[in-house]
Amino acid sequence: MTFDRSIKIAPSILAADFANFGAECAAVEAQGADWIHVDVMDGHFVPNITFGPATCAAIRPHIKGVMDVHLMIAPVDPYIEAFADAGADVLTAHVEAGPHIHRTLQAIKGAGMKAGIALNPGTPANAVAEVMDMVDLICVMTVNPGFGGQKFIDMSAKIAELRAMIGDRPVHIEIDGGVDPTTAPLVAKAGADVLVAGSAVFRGGSVSDPAPYGENIRAIREAANGVWT
Ligand code: DX5
Ligand code: ZN
Repeated sequence: MTFDRSIKIAPSILAADFANFGAECAAVEAQGADWIHVDVMDGHFVPNITFGPATCAAIRPHIKGVMDVHLMIAPVDPYIEAFADAGADVLTAHVEAGPHIHRTLQAIKGAGMKAGIALNPGTPANAVAEVMDMVDLICVMTVNPGFGGQKFIDMSAKIAELRAMIGDRPVHIEIDGGVDPTTAPLVAKAGADVLVAGSAVFRGGSVSDPAPYGENIRAIREAANGVWT
């Protein structure tokens, strides 16, 4: 993974066909996705359950690029090795998931993955201040995590604050929740570079009719890039 700040679109497979993850990942990649975002939920940290490391391992061979795994689980530490073995490139833990985020980030790096830290809408930017030199990605949640298809919560001020805190460090700002062509310009302008989108990518298409995935990805990317043109 090389670092750059260009806009990257990361479809969330939470909005894909759960019986067909491999083909769905291949379809959105063929249609222009940059990363694949994989949402792991435990029914404890968030009020919904998805899947765990075995499913991540099963879909890994169907992803050519970056597998971006977003853990909405607590605790995190007992499962880090399992997600490394499953082939995660980026492993993101929530700062709210436990008292020892520093230890968690050390363990993620130690297991050979890029380390991400996620912030719920109610968590301020300065929650990452002491670990800024340990992270590769900061995920700003623009919904309360747990479900796809929720309404975007404007976190532009927090994104801009984080962008200033990051300075020249090679740290991505990822936005997760309610991203579509109307909200993408706001977050891109504030300094985000990785845009997760579930419903706004998968709506209207399928593995047998994947062209709408491509149109949806293009629409989000153009809206985000349009900020600068
Ligand atoms: C929310 C998940 C998101 C979600 C985004 O808990 O972390 O990745 O799938 O879905 P949309 O784009 O539909 O808001
Ligand atoms: Zn997510």
